[in-house]
Amino acid sequence: MKVSVIGAGNVGATCVDALARKDFIKEVVALDIKENYAEGKALDIWETAPVEYYSTKTIGVTNDYAKTANSDVVVITSGLPRKPGMSRDDLISTNAGIVKSVTEQVIKYSPDTIIVVVSNPLDVMTYAAYLTAKIDSSRVFGMAGILDTARYRAFLAEALNVSPKDIQAVLMGGHGDTMVPLPRYTTVSGIPVTELIDDEALNKIVERTKKGGGEIVNLLGTSAWYAPGAAAAQMVEAILKDEQRIFPCCAWLDGQYGLKDMYLGVPVKLGKNGIEEIIELDLNEDEKALLHDSAKSVKEVLNVLDNMNIMD
Ligand code: NAI
Ligand code: 2OP
Repeated sequence: MKVSVIGAGNVGATCVDALARKDFIKEVVALDIKENYAEGKALDIWETAPVEYYSTKTIGVTNDYAKTANSDVVVITSGLPRKPGMSRDDLISTNAGIVKSVTEQVIKYSPDTIIVVVSNPLDVMTYAAYLTAKIDSSRVFGMAGILDTARYRAFLAEALNVSPKDIQAVLMGGHGDTMVPLPRYTTVSGIPVTELIDDEALNKIVERTKKGGGEIVNLLGTSAWYAPGAAAAQMVEAILKDEQRIFPCCAWLDGQYGLKDMYLGVPVKLGKNGIEEIIELDLNEDEKALLHDSAKSVKEVLNVLDNMNIMD
């Protein structure tokens, strides 16, 4: 088994590290555009192997896509974070250009691969990779829901003084302020969370989750990487081990939830073919309205990319 991670920055290197520690993949290639950067990160992670007892070989390369050939899964984390003075549209056009050129190379050397996109703005970058790769949408999808749900679960665990392991939850929608955590689908070891926490405390946690990315940016001056890297690695593991796990992922919708021709976060089943199934929940009217609001704002951003004509 072989995995490549494009972009060896904070999220990419953390993902390589998390994958190596899982110790079931033969080779993980990290690729970056910065000279010797991925080489240094991959070497450091390989030198951790004797201490942490894993055999996965990690290899770093500078823009040499031949070394990524025949990857079973490719994780795309390359892209700039938003800088002061940069508009959202500037960020979309810069990162879409990066995701487009990266995806072209990825597909050239690994035509049968499955692509997991992490670069932001997530929903639109996943769309950019899909338009470029020209492969079935079951093989191009994005990571955000596992991270957003993890934040929600972590906050709940803290509030309830229980282990985060025991909190299961579903969260849908775009990777932004309009995301839709779903308390009705949240349990603590099977107990509906609404039986354990009052509405006010739960609403505060839902609101904190929606701004979870920004909370880290405010603390660190850059965005998160430990949880995002681990979340992407969990998706890779589910695919390569054909686990049929159910996770919220950014998936191409073709009529599900009354939404069509767009990427959005929904629960899916992940296995060896990528997205094996999109799970359609029986949402109530309030939940549906929130999901459609989120879809509307994601669609607007997808339209921004379409109108830039840079994907032709
Ligand atoms: P970073 O700046 O630490 O790393 C990005 C890396 O991409 C850099 O090393 C850079 O040299 C590389 N890169 C840029 N252009 C490239 C190209 N054409 N080919 C190969 N490599 C290239 O940033 P970080 O923190 O790792 O974040 C990466 C992306 O992931 C950002 O867009 C960020 O907003 C996004 N992100 C998404 C999350 C999600 O939930 N989907 C969560 C956290 C971050
Ligand atoms: C996050 O949610 C910024 O997407 C990034 O941490």
